[in-house]
Amino acid sequence: MSSEHAVNTDTGAGPDKVRLGPVNALYPSLTTLVGAVVDGRPNFLAVAHVGIMNHGTPQYVSVGLNKAHHTPRGITAHGEFSICLPGRDLVEKTDYAGLVSGRRTDKSRLFDVFFGDLAHAPLIRECPVCMECRLARVLDFETHDVFVGEIVQTHADRDVLDAGGAIDVRAVDPLLFDMASRTYWALGEPAGKCWSAGKAMKERLEP
Ligand SMILES: Cc1cc2nc3c(=O)[nH]c(=O)nc-3n(C[C@H](O)[C@H](O)[C@H](O)COP(=O)(O)O)c2cc1C
Repeated sequence: MSSEHAVNTDTGAGPDKVRLGPVNALYPSLTTLVGAVVDGRPNFLAVAHVGIMNHGTPQYVSVGLNKAHHTPRGITAHGEFSICLPGRDLVEKTDYAGLVSGRRTDKSRLFDVFFGDLAHAPLIRECPVCMECRLARVLDFETHDVFVGEIVQTHADRDVLDAGGAIDVRAVDPLLFDMASRTYWALGEPAGKCWSAGKAMKERLEP
């Protein structure tokens, strides 16, 4: 570890805590493929800076895209985009989509493309789950624009749905993105049930 990392002995955090500066530690995040129609052609890029903005009605999600990229031009032009979730089997093509720009390379034939309800939100047949989004807002930051989209339709492969029709994340086998290790990770074992793992404690403390 570099000696420039100040040890927090003066703050009460103790010698085991190290100050890293403003490092973004919100990883792993989900690796997605974001698509738009740019100059009449579908174009996709790899995007890991994704967010859930409004969970409810409507459903809003966000993607943070560098202003220099090619894909945002299509999102701005048509007000529509897609977000698809590649499985582990698509790691090579996904990474490629994140290495080359549609500005110089035609990526329109990289995937088997289909369309759903929106004419300018290209979807990827090889991805087990795809969402069609209508652009709702753009947040303008220094280097990135955050495109907030309303999900208008979601498409899923039959074989990634559980018996109740919900998306089974284990079957999707998503690629998790970690910036620090520059590595795609896969899901591990379940660690507990949400809104359930803490129930016994809640009852103990607030009977
Ligand atoms: C795994 C991975 C994740 C990425 N995540 C983002 C991201 O969240 N936002 C972004 O602007 N670029 C991201 N990139 C970079 C773009 O995908 C890349 O620059 C791409 O070539 C841009 O394509 P385009 O110019 O055709 O739009 C990522 C790249 C990789 C490999």
